[in-house]
Amino acid sequence: MKSTGAQTSEPAAVIVLAAGAGTRMKSTKPKVLHEVLGLTLLDHVLHAASDLNSKKTLVIVGHGRDQVQEHLAKAHPAVVTAVQDEQNGTGHAVKIALDALGELTGPVLVLAGDTPLLTTSDMQLTLDALAGKSAAVLTAHLADATGYGRIVRNASNGFEKIVEHRDATDSELLLTEVNSGVYAFDAKLLRESIAKLTTNNSQGEQYLTDVLGILRSEGHEVSAIATSEENILGVNDRRQLADAGAILRNRINNEWMMAGVTMVDPNSVWIDRTAVLESDVTLLTNVSITGASTIRGGATIGPDCSLHDTVADHCATVIRTTSNGAVIGEGANVGPYTYLRPGTVLGAGAKAGGFVEMKNANLGVNAKVPHLSYVGDATIGEGTNIGAATVFVNYDGQEKHHTQVGSHVRIGSDTMLVAPLVIGDGAYTAAGSVITEDVPAGSMAVGRARQRNIVDWVLRRRPGSDSAKAALADSSHKNSK
Ligand code: UD1
Ligand code: MG
Repeated sequence: MKSTGAQTSEPAAVIVLAAGAGTRMKSTKPKVLHEVLGLTLLDHVLHAASDLNSKKTLVIVGHGRDQVQEHLAKAHPAVVTAVQDEQNGTGHAVKIALDALGELTGPVLVLAGDTPLLTTSDMQLTLDALAGKSAAVLTAHLADATGYGRIVRNASNGFEKIVEHRDATDSELLLTEVNSGVYAFDAKLLRESIAKLTTNNSQGEQYLTDVLGILRSEGHEVSAIATSEENILGVNDRRQLADAGAILRNRINNEWMMAGVTMVDPNSVWIDRTAVLESDVTLLTNVSITGASTIRGGATIGPDCSLHDTVADHCATVIRTTSNGAVIGEGANVGPYTYLRPGTVLGAGAKAGGFVEMKNANLGVNAKVPHLSYVGDATIGEGTNIGAATVFVNYDGQEKHHTQVGSHVRIGSDTMLVAPLVIGDGAYTAAGSVITEDVPAGSMAVGRARQRNIVDWVLRRRPGSDSAKAALADSSHKNSK
């Protein structure tokens, strides 16, 4: 055997293949941009790879390349791309990648963009297996190997070659060890042997897998090292997308439980990779925490909450709530049936109760909006109470206006606060008022018609009716005579 290859395991380059059409997804979106747990399939692969500290990371794009490049520029600005116009096979794709990368020495890691369950350890395992060899391939033993390339080993159990499912003989099809599509190569040997690829196979493509056979036939050593079946799952259709999502969901939940988060029913909890929780958070049933959310220690979330880009501070309680872009203060109470929209900030101990919608609104410390209200474009001071069914009338049909409510204010039930408006500290409004003018501190504002009673209207206009009979029988009616 020739002794070849790199001695260090830090990769000189990581190449991610993502030019394929992903036909089986039946989507206008490129396959690698489909999301699970808050990140695209490609993001998951790149995140796992980023811990390897590769000097260069290159993604091969083709189908839907504008969308993929746009996403990469935003989410992974350090990653470069190269274009494979025609998908002439995985070997062809790597050839293009090598040309784009230029001079390289040392280990090159090749990954596929559609394997979101692959871990950094799997990648490291493959790189470590390269030491002193020309190439290493990550494998797994599958109960059902249909569709995968099979690992063919020799009599002494050494790696011999990979045969694609379509090109395999009947006896090769019985092999259960498969190619994961993850490889580490010595850069120089990869470049030399990739030039020797042919399209002499059932698909008329240049197979990257044949590089390993070429290296072996030239007397180089190749190692094949196995990981778990779960980790190599490739997403080719929507069922596999859901399978990958469920596995990732369980992994993430297990990590948070081990970090001190209580989950009453982890099967109904979905936490994006991008969200952060602290120990002593309690998650009740049917909770999703997505985007850049943070849940701090002592907070209880659920049941039935969807929190996106939301911060819930220490000891906050959030029940049956949809929240997007809100900050929920320490010990604050939200729900049930509450809708918090972007720009909502609840102070410590504040409350946003049942059937309350809030947007771009700041609720002061211990201030309360307990029931059935809309609060839009407002600042509400400390200790203020907003009565049931209050509406912050912020929109004049063209523009949004702001309402400022001072501290320790009492807004009566069913008040319409027609913005722009300033309500001074300690002021009150009478229930049912339509407030169109500023209210000075300490004033009671009454903005409604005075009540008048038309005596005996029912007896005159609805004689003999049940209402009239009830009125006649009522002692207070007699007394009013
Ligand atoms: C490939 C392997 C197979 C392995 C399987 C693991 C080859 C020939 N076969 O098969 O041994 O078991 O992966 O999932 O490599 N791509 C390009 N350009 C191309 C062709 C493919 O960028 O011209 C990309 C695809 O977008 C995909 C990856 O390479 O991300 C793998 O290609 P795919 O067509 O899915 O290969 P498989 O048939 O799955
Ligand atoms: Mg595939």
